[in-house]
Amino acid sequence: MSDKMAPGKEAAGKKLLRALKGEATEGVPIWLMRQAGRYLPEYRKVRAEAGSFLDLCYTPDFAEEVTLQPIRRYGFDASILFSDILVVPDALGQKVAFKEGEGPVLEAITNVAGLAALKPVEAVREHLQPVYEVVKRLRRSLPPETTLIGFAGAPWTVATYVVGGRGSPDQGAAKAWAYRAPDEFQKLIDLLTDATVEHLSAQVEAGAEVLQVFDTWAGSLPELSFERFALQPMKRIRETLKERFPDIPVIAFPRGAGGMAARYFRETGVNGLSLDTGVSALWAREHLQPLGCVQGNLDPLLLVAGGAEMRRQALHILETLGQGPFIFNLGHGIVPQTPPEHVAELVTLVKEWRA
Ligand code: CP3
Repeated sequence: MSDKMAPGKEAAGKKLLRALKGEATEGVPIWLMRQAGRYLPEYRKVRAEAGSFLDLCYTPDFAEEVTLQPIRRYGFDASILFSDILVVPDALGQKVAFKEGEGPVLEAITNVAGLAALKPVEAVREHLQPVYEVVKRLRRSLPPETTLIGFAGAPWTVATYVVGGRGSPDQGAAKAWAYRAPDEFQKLIDLLTDATVEHLSAQVEAGAEVLQVFDTWAGSLPELSFERFALQPMKRIRETLKERFPDIPVIAFPRGAGGMAARYFRETGVNGLSLDTGVSALWAREHLQPLGCVQGNLDPLLLVAGGAEMRRQALHILETLGQGPFIFNLGHGIVPQTPPEHVAELVTLVKEWRA
């Protein structure tokens, strides 16, 4: 299938889109979750200048710049908008702050009375105008071969922060509500589902070519709750987007989905499934790749270590999944202590690899 590819620039961008259409590609496209961020000195410089993290997200000059930084350095096949999944609750009127060394802090909403205080879904497009402005600018400033990815958090993952008021090891606060009063909790999930669809739609209208939905905490849900609060909302998001934008591919990242991954992939109808570090590449080739494009899943800590072990495990993933449809990525985001030269080495290895 590699035959008539135009050489050079044009071909590379299309490569990622072709993989998402379910085609095998000549060479494997690569981008990395959290490819912009604190491991890059040039990011830390802009971050210090911007003031707060949300100011960075909401100031188009800054957000555009930090999105482009990893593209300049490494020439990834895709660029992911620089923003955060928590801009959605921020837009709905739940004040979000990012505290140094503490991560996000929100005023917790734990019942329906708290829900009633939130703004209607229309607030999303209004409040997040600066984010869509960043997307618009990126479509002009990115190299033509680079695919622009927009994103949002999945309703369940965003709900864990909305209800818990911060990150937590067990998502206990959100689970407490979901188990105590599932039909009430469903109202929060429904609101976040609608808000997510609006946020993703606005990104497509501004120029995003692919969408990724992060369900970082999907794996903490037991089967019946996973079905209700992770799988069903993603299915609804995918179906609504399909009606609005039939040609825009969607990647889902149901981290930790384990034995639910195949069913989730099939029933949500997403084009790509992003695999966490714990998913066996051999198993994924047999059970997931026949359903569509898979993406992943090098351990971010191998990227910290670098060297022979990183190369060995990256090659294992390439050899196993590289016949396609496949996008090389990590199993979770790049961590701040990652040496930038290890990223360069990984990108070279993936770009030079051939099936
Ligand atoms: O991937 C990219 O380069 C795009 C930008 C991006 C960020 N956050 C920037 C960010 C994306 C796609 C996210 C997604 C996100 N945000 C998720 C889902 C994916 C995942 O990593 O699991 C989640 C759960 C969040 C919520 C969030 N944002 C947390 C828990 C934190 C604090 C943890 C940390 O790393 O500090 C953030 C802050 C954040 N979002 C940073 C960045 C670069 C670090 C903030 C800083 O620079 O001070």
